[in-house]
Amino acid sequence: MTEGTADASMGALAGRGITPDAIPPFPRDGRPAVRLIGLRRTYGDVAAVDGIDIEVGDAEFFSLIGPSGCGKTTTLRMIAGLVEPSEGRIEVHGRDLTHVRPHRRPVNTVFQQYALFPHLSVFENIAFGLRERHMGRAEIVQRVGEMLELVGLEGRERYKSTHLSGGQQQRVALARSLVLRPEVLLLDEPLGALDLKLRKALQLQLKRIQREVGITFIYVTHDQEEAFFMSHRVAIMSDGRIEQLGTPRDVYEHPQTEFVADFVGASNRMAATIVACHENGIYEADIDDIGRVRAPGVSALHPGQDACAIVRPEAILPQPPEPARAGVSARIVDLAYLGHHVSCVLETSAGAQLAMRMTQPRSALAVGQQFEVSWPFDAIWLLARAGEAGG
Ligand SMILES: Nc1ncnc2c1ncn2[C@@H]1O[C@H](COP(=O)(O)OP(=O)(O)OP(=O)(O)O)[C@@H](O)[C@H]1O
Ligand SMILES: [Mg+2]
Repeated sequence: MTEGTADASMGALAGRGITPDAIPPFPRDGRPAVRLIGLRRTYGDVAAVDGIDIEVGDAEFFSLIGPSGCGKTTTLRMIAGLVEPSEGRIEVHGRDLTHVRPHRRPVNTVFQQYALFPHLSVFENIAFGLRERHMGRAEIVQRVGEMLELVGLEGRERYKSTHLSGGQQQRVALARSLVLRPEVLLLDEPLGALDLKLRKALQLQLKRIQREVGITFIYVTHDQEEAFFMSHRVAIMSDGRIEQLGTPRDVYEHPQTEFVADFVGASNRMAATIVACHENGIYEADIDDIGRVRAPGVSALHPGQDACAIVRPEAILPQPPEPARAGVSARIVDLAYLGHHVSCVLETSAGAQLAMRMTQPRSALAVGQQFEVSWPFDAIWLLARAGEAGG
């Protein structure tokens, strides 16, 4: 059943001409490709992964992001079968794989280190797994040819892998994994060793390739922007747990915790008190040194609760407050020209710091300049303050 699914999606390659748009968006049929149920792994007293539940859709590009040591690699290695879970269950397309040996899982992994065979050509590196499966020569040539085209390395099949650049080696590693037509491809910081420009180019390629082959990708990175660029959904991990799971837009615009608000993009945090609750998650709140606002927030905040108001730097504009805009008088204490935007650090008269980010400042800005800044009420997002109960 599942073999057929993978073959059908890879078969599309032979026809080519298929564009990423031609592939129905996730979820394709609502059936999860991967289910992690209560998955946990401890090392002594340390819970590297502390009970996570995730469903990844068929043909979804799913990313696990989070700071160093939060348990991303351990999660991936459990799915690959390289680390035994202490508790929980792993299913791929409905089959329980928790105790299945790694080479028997319909799963492949691309690591940060390319791990190619240095003495073999590009062709033989990609063909390696097919030869191990005793596939006929004609089919090997055809499948390797498809992969070379997919990763843009046609004409390089005779090169020794050591004669390739880092980016090219990583594309061979990707081709070598995909040629086996896994149901799920796991990628652990595969672009981590590359410079920024090459990283960006390969992000675009990886995204295209995933949409084209329609195989479920589970991608691990500590780079939020990289994950946002490629993924249908992301899970943000902290200390072995999932803090939040959703689309990039969802986690950026509606972070459920201060940790998530901080991890995905820059954010300004201000202390606030909830005054009243209206319908649809709209609150009346008093923000310290700013005043009364009517703004959206997480569900289940209650009047009197200490809260935290989040404002993204790009929402702040150098214009005076008005009825539906909150604002404050501030002084520029740091200014950096970053090409596509100008980044400012402001200090309010109460001594709080605010980050502001402007794409095209109309007038020249200078350190020391004092002005009024403001942001719309609906660009505010209210959260429970860390350590406060939500209800
Ligand atoms: N084999 C091991 N023995 C003991 N502790 C381990 C082992 N593997 C991982 N850990 C611990 O488990 C935690 C999670 O590690 P993991 O490698 O999964 O993190 P990560 O999110 O991939 O981090 P990074 O971004 O640095 O790669 C860490 O505290 C780590 O020290
Ligand atoms: Mg890791």
